[in-house]
Amino acid sequence: MCGIVGYIGDRSATEVIMEGLRRLEYRGYDSAGMALVPRSGGSIQVIKRQGEIDKGLAPGIREESPDPSAAGIGHTRWATHGRPNDINAHPHTDCDGGLAVVHNGIIENYFELGRELRNEGHVFRSDVDTEVIPHLVERYRKTGLDLLEATMKASTYLRGAYALAVVESDDGSGNEALVGVRKESPLIVGIGEGEYFLASDIAALLPYTRDVIILENGDFAFLTREGYRLYDQGGEEVHREVERVDWDADAAERGGHPHFMIKEILEQPEAWVAALQGRVGSDRAQLPELKNAPSVVDGISQVHLVGCGTSYHAAVAARPQFERLLGIPARAEIASEFRYGDPLLGPDTLVVFVSQSGETADTLACLDLAKSAGCPTIGITNVVGSSLARGADDVVFTRAGPEISVASTKTYTTQLLILDLIACHLGSVLGFDDDARARVDALLERAPDLPGMGWELLDNQEVILRVAEYLAGWEDVFFIGRGLDFAAAMEGQLKLKEISYIHAEAYPAGELKHGSIALIEQGIPVIAISTQDHLREKMASNVEAARARGGWICLVTDRPDDSTAQIADEVIVVPRTAEILTPVLVGLALQLLAYHTAVLRDCPVDKPRNLAKSVTVE
Ligand code: F6R
Repeated sequence: MCGIVGYIGDRSATEVIMEGLRRLEYRGYDSAGMALVPRSGGSIQVIKRQGEIDKGLAPGIREESPDPSAAGIGHTRWATHGRPNDINAHPHTDCDGGLAVVHNGIIENYFELGRELRNEGHVFRSDVDTEVIPHLVERYRKTGLDLLEATMKASTYLRGAYALAVVESDDGSGNEALVGVRKESPLIVGIGEGEYFLASDIAALLPYTRDVIILENGDFAFLTREGYRLYDQGGEEVHREVERVDWDADAAERGGHPHFMIKEILEQPEAWVAALQGRVGSDRAQLPELKNAPSVVDGISQVHLVGCGTSYHAAVAARPQFERLLGIPARAEIASEFRYGDPLLGPDTLVVFVSQSGETADTLACLDLAKSAGCPTIGITNVVGSSLARGADDVVFTRAGPEISVASTKTYTTQLLILDLIACHLGSVLGFDDDARARVDALLERAPDLPGMGWELLDNQEVILRVAEYLAGWEDVFFIGRGLDFAAAMEGQLKLKEISYIHAEAYPAGELKHGSIALIEQGIPVIAISTQDHLREKMASNVEAARARGGWICLVTDRPDDSTAQIADEVIVVPRTAEILTPVLVGLALQLLAYHTAVLRDCPVDKPRNLAKSVTVE
């Protein structure tokens, strides 16, 4: 997730773009840049720097003091391809610097397109997917098409989700133009008095205008000083309604939501699309990022999955998939325990590290331990350029976009997806038995439907809200489940605990009777998760036992006809999908439950007490 700003009008484009980028910096902050069209004509001026705006781009603008300009585009980056540095920062230009592009999203077929364009003689400077776009537009500009036509033509070759802003040099006659494109990733047009804007988010425009057009999927926008025109993906000119927004600036940063946490929860279907994009083939998972592990996997005799907190819970949920699909023992390990547990490690042990930030001290210490023992390592992280991304032999990015709220949400569910895909990918190198093949086929077949199911769940929150109202009045809550559902229960209790300050415990449902059931008394909330057919009857008995002691039961199930639903006080139904994928949907439901409960208790949701987003100390 990156931020885009474009401007054309009589103000200083440099200032408008800089102000817009500052307001979008929450979307990405590893580098920023702008491309400006000088009023007096001549080449586009591109200024871009690694790092946060105040430490990189702002001093860069002061140093280079660009000519006055009335049009330009800017970008603040959250890297998905290529390390965060000056060269990989946007904008990117064509061969002779005549046109520049900023991009939010991922171009899936960049590799093939890049090879084709290099063969035609185009000269590339960076290692990011975006750079194919200016060269493609250049290809069609040289055939005589104008900037809009050339961008439309180039877009027909791009696969993936993206929003673009494109600008080109002008001869000083005042005929500057901007082109915007929206394909899956959001892009809006701002309408002022004789000035027009592009932005990936309303926040960037609030100082200048509140009149906006939210582009539809596939739309193109063509902006000049005189006005704007919009075209649909077929190239037909279209009319879109101008909407007036009345958000204050703070709410705008959060996309109009009261907290980053709910914004990030709601972004999940979009994050799943990005995480899965290009990685789900018809009969196999495709992770070209795994350059080393596939070649050594047949010599591996055990797998450790290591992480802390929520990332550890993702590892717990993925452990059975690794064991099943690779046919070797797999263990989920808490990093702070693993590092001092004197583990048996060697070149036959694959260690997979899971960390949203890629900077968690305990996890990085385990990486050092594994590397010094000669273990092959894989890192799963959301942050390109993080220590984990740099240190692991192979790295797979979750592509969830920046997560601002302290409680992990979209990064947890994307970790689950990536872990499953890694297990599929490595398992396919070794070959599957019939049971493993059936699991993999179910995952590959159902994964593309997951975002739609996420939307369905997000659209039906009434029961979750009712359950939250009940939980908000209690100080102790139990989460129970078996197998994958126990892993989901662990994450559900952590989420509730950390943001609502309610004491919560997760138990394997069959273990309750060995002691903890003593704590179940009249009315105490028990969140019972039951989504696996072969364990449904066992769960039913455990739920009966909790209810018999007076427990107030909320069943989370993927079967509305589940017989346990008859005895539950509330039933949260998640859409039914492949068993391996269900923890993703249960995760989403339990995040919503924790969120609504914390809001009802008036807790500071985004910044819970005593917690930090990235724990870089022991
Ligand atoms: C809880 C949460 C933490 C992190 C943990 C590890 O919502 O976010 O438990 O999961 O601190 O952080 P990363 O994943 O950055 O290693």
